[in-house]
Amino acid sequence: MVFKIFEINKLALLCTILLILSFHKVSSGANQWHFYDGTSPADIIAGDVFFEIIDPPELRYSYRVRPAKDFGAPFNQSYLFEKAHLVPTNPSHSCSDIKNYEDIVGHIALSERGECSFVYKTAKAQEAGARAIIITESIDKWEESVDHLIEMVDDKMDLNVNIPAGFLLGRNGVTILRTLKHLHIPYAIINLPVNMTYTPISKMNQPPWITW
Ligand SMILES: *[C@@H]1O[C@H](CO)[C@@H](O)[C@H](O)[C@H]1NC(C)=O
Ligand SMILES: *[C@@H]1O[C@H](CO)[C@@H](O)[C@H](O)[C@H]1NC(C)=O
Repeated sequence: MVFKIFEINKLALLCTILLILSFHKVSSGANQWHFYDGTSPADIIAGDVFFEIIDPPELRYSYRVRPAKDFGAPFNQSYLFEKAHLVPTNPSHSCSDIKNYEDIVGHIALSERGECSFVYKTAKAQEAGARAIIITESIDKWEESVDHLIEMVDDKMDLNVNIPAGFLLGRNGVTILRTLKHLHIPYAIINLPVNMTYTPISKMNQPPWITW
């Protein structure tokens, strides 16, 4: 009798675990697709570009960037970056002369939002010899609840910028910045753009912290 009860309990436990596992699977799958309801990959990424990090391995995913709306150059065929360095700027907001320009010349600057306009940051990065700039939220001010891709517009400061500029979602940018800091490495190695037009969403290799 005691034996039997034990068996039943074990069976119940197993069923519960299986149930939890299957729920987990279904709900995470639903999360992943929820945002994309009824749209094709081409609709979702319209106008956006992707880059992939090759190194460090901790960050080896694809990241979506929203090009600036009305300043800088487009991310077109003239700007193909293969194994380029994505270099956090010093100062991080890129609102004054960039001190680590030697790392940035010929590569891509990564700057934080705030303190001055997007165009001004782009002008400073260009002055330092960057071939493009990616701007993300500030490490200190980033809030998950208000995180979204921003359409950067010109502030009419009349600065002449001619490098491409793009905005990177805060949770991606902040994770990249923190990881590089943590590993004590001055840059990530990236390919840009990665053409995702015909890549199914499930194959996009999105970072695990992106759940939508
Ligand atoms: C890319 O854009 C730049 C700046 O607008 C332009 O000079 C260049 O010709 C474009 N390249 C291609 C391949 O369209
Ligand atoms: C991606 O590839 C497709 C097919 O080769 C091409 O039509 C499209 O213009 C490409 N997109 C970009 C952003 O290069």
